[in-house]
Amino acid sequence: MSIIAIDGTLASGKGTLAKKLAAHFDLPHLDTGKLYRAVGYAVLQSGENPEDENAAIAAAKAVDLSSLADPALLQDEVANAASKVAVIPAVRAALFDTQQNFAAQSGGAVLDGRDIGTVICPHADVKLFIDALPEERAKRRYDELIRLGKMANYDLVFKQLVERDHRDSTRKTAPLLPATDAHIIDTTDLSPDEVLSRAINIINSILL
Ligand code: C5P
Repeated sequence: MSIIAIDGTLASGKGTLAKKLAAHFDLPHLDTGKLYRAVGYAVLQSGENPEDENAAIAAAKAVDLSSLADPALLQDEVANAASKVAVIPAVRAALFDTQQNFAAQSGGAVLDGRDIGTVICPHADVKLFIDALPEERAKRRYDELIRLGKMANYDLVFKQLVERDHRDSTRKTAPLLPATDAHIIDTTDLSPDEVLSRAINIINSILL
């Protein structure tokens, strides 16, 4: 059984990589950001503020894996709410078992997020940390919004990305940071296929 833990900054390519690795190695995949998004979305839907601890904790206790396919979770407003609820330690605690149980499946698993290699699966067989320059990540997110036919402003996308990075990496509980034994891939100048082949080389060199 192999656990592949993938952490990284937003729009770094970690989600795409995680999906492709799961397909390549035939492993189940959990995008743990969706759990935090589901909590943020539930809080917004009930008209509460994502910074309201009681509302966020109640929503985190009610979240399960069946609610993660909702396309509403992809909205930027929900992502920002997710990063606000993610600061609350009791929210993180309420989501802990779901993530650990997913990782403990007998055949192994791929999980991606912000604290997989550091907190959720500190004993993962392989840890990858995916990053890219903020300007490149903002450009990717902007291009994606345009592709989806949404209104987008690069400066605003850049500002929100820097704010979310800052909130994720400076929070006290489980901040975004590479595990000491993580393999770092900078995707700034790499295509998704180049990122995938680098990751497969790293994983094969560890597991084979
Ligand atoms: O990865 P994604 O952009 O969907 O994550 C949304 C937010 O959820 C992140 O900005 C982060 O605040 C939070 N998150 C987290 N820990 C994880 C996954 C996501 O704190 N393992």
